[in-house]
Amino acid sequence: MQKFIIQGGHELKGEISVKGGKNSALKIIPASILSKKTIKISNLPKIEDIDKSLELIKDLGAKINKQKKYIEIDPENINKNSLSPKWANKFRASIMFIGPLLARFGEVKFPHPGGCVIGAGGRPIDLFLEGFIALGAKVKIDGNNYHIQAKKLKGAEYFFTQISVTATESLMMTATLAEGVTILKNCAMEPEIKNLADYLNSVGAKIEGAGTPTIKIKGVSEINAGEISIMPDRLETGSFSLMAAITKSEITIKNCEPKHIEVLLNIFNKIGVPFIQGKDFLTIKKAKKIISHNIKTHEYPGFPTDLQPPYTVLMTQTEGQALIHETIYDRRLQYIDMLSQMGAKISSCDPHRAFVNGPTKLYGKKLTSPDLRAGIAMLIAGLVAEGETQIDNIYQIDRGYENIDKRLRGLGADIKRV
Ligand code: EPU
Repeated sequence: MQKFIIQGGHELKGEISVKGGKNSALKIIPASILSKKTIKISNLPKIEDIDKSLELIKDLGAKINKQKKYIEIDPENINKNSLSPKWANKFRASIMFIGPLLARFGEVKFPHPGGCVIGAGGRPIDLFLEGFIALGAKVKIDGNNYHIQAKKLKGAEYFFTQISVTATESLMMTATLAEGVTILKNCAMEPEIKNLADYLNSVGAKIEGAGTPTIKIKGVSEINAGEISIMPDRLETGSFSLMAAITKSEITIKNCEPKHIEVLLNIFNKIGVPFIQGKDFLTIKKAKKIISHNIKTHEYPGFPTDLQPPYTVLMTQTEGQALIHETIYDRRLQYIDMLSQMGAKISSCDPHRAFVNGPTKLYGKKLTSPDLRAGIAMLIAGLVAEGETQIDNIYQIDRGYENIDKRLRGLGADIKRV
């Protein structure tokens, strides 16, 4: 198994380009099933989760034409409506295939999706199932396996009792081919949702309100396919901004949309991290003194749960005390033990809250990456720590950040993959 070896304490410098968004691409690939025409996708990040998503759609019968700058998916010959456990067990985003398969074939079988262990008892899919039932589907559950059938999907009103990004996207896609009008209420508002709706509308869907809490979908009998360039990954933008602040470096982040991390930039203004922001670039300047600041994770446009771990690393380097309150997932603070081993002063209150007292010097340690976002936080902690940090299980980092070691070496980081 590969690991990262980092010699910390180097100031970083230069430019880094943001790749296409994982959490956007993971919805666009399955959305291609809604049409029988070929979709052309560019700016796809070269990461594990995308490879798995492409393997899964190939397994269903789609043809894939991979070129250097784009890929084409021809979904015409998709003839299978069951997800093999071989793929579904490997990643949570396999759930994104269910709605489009149901909409196209009226039936779908699948095992409970696998993935990151950040939610207690596995991550539930109850909202998806409730939504499909609202659209007229019948759901049979046999142990870990689901069988959903709908002779005809019918537009309906559905209220999400909990805000969920993927469930919002899933029902939005499914309702695109349902008969009549669907109104989804209390939807997630993440930019990836609007991006998906914009693409679907560009090929014939009739979706209004994506990016707001209420989405109205007028069902159509078929949709076409077209071209899409995956939007920049806002979580890479955020991670790199935090990395610059933590290592007190000046870095320019290119090919990004700073408006998607508005909450973090507003906090930077309050705590003393200087930056220059353009439409598609962000320069984080060297900070003189950064002060601590509480965060409470929230659905977009609030503070993203995915940036909570690297933000916590920043709070180990700032002056004062910060309360980190993780509200979305139950197991997203587990990495703080590792930060404590590195020398951070963190007191855990309960699985959702921890106090960080800064500034403290961090020291290199042997660590294991528990999940994707905690993994990048450990990597960044290694960059600021004194001495050598070794990170195992880096598969969890590669899942979301393309070629991260090479890209960070471009900024002067001393990081090796062995
Ligand atoms: N939830 C339910 N029932 C459901 C679905 C979700 O109770 O049927 C709960 C979850 O357990 C969680 C909350 O709703 O407590 C929010 O989860 P959400 O469904 O929004 O998460 P997700 O859609 O599974 C997406 C991203 C995550 C990101 C969250 C932020 C994708 C593929 N994943 O997950 O990304 O953390 O939104 O809410 O878009 C990552 O990139 O590292 C990652 C985990």
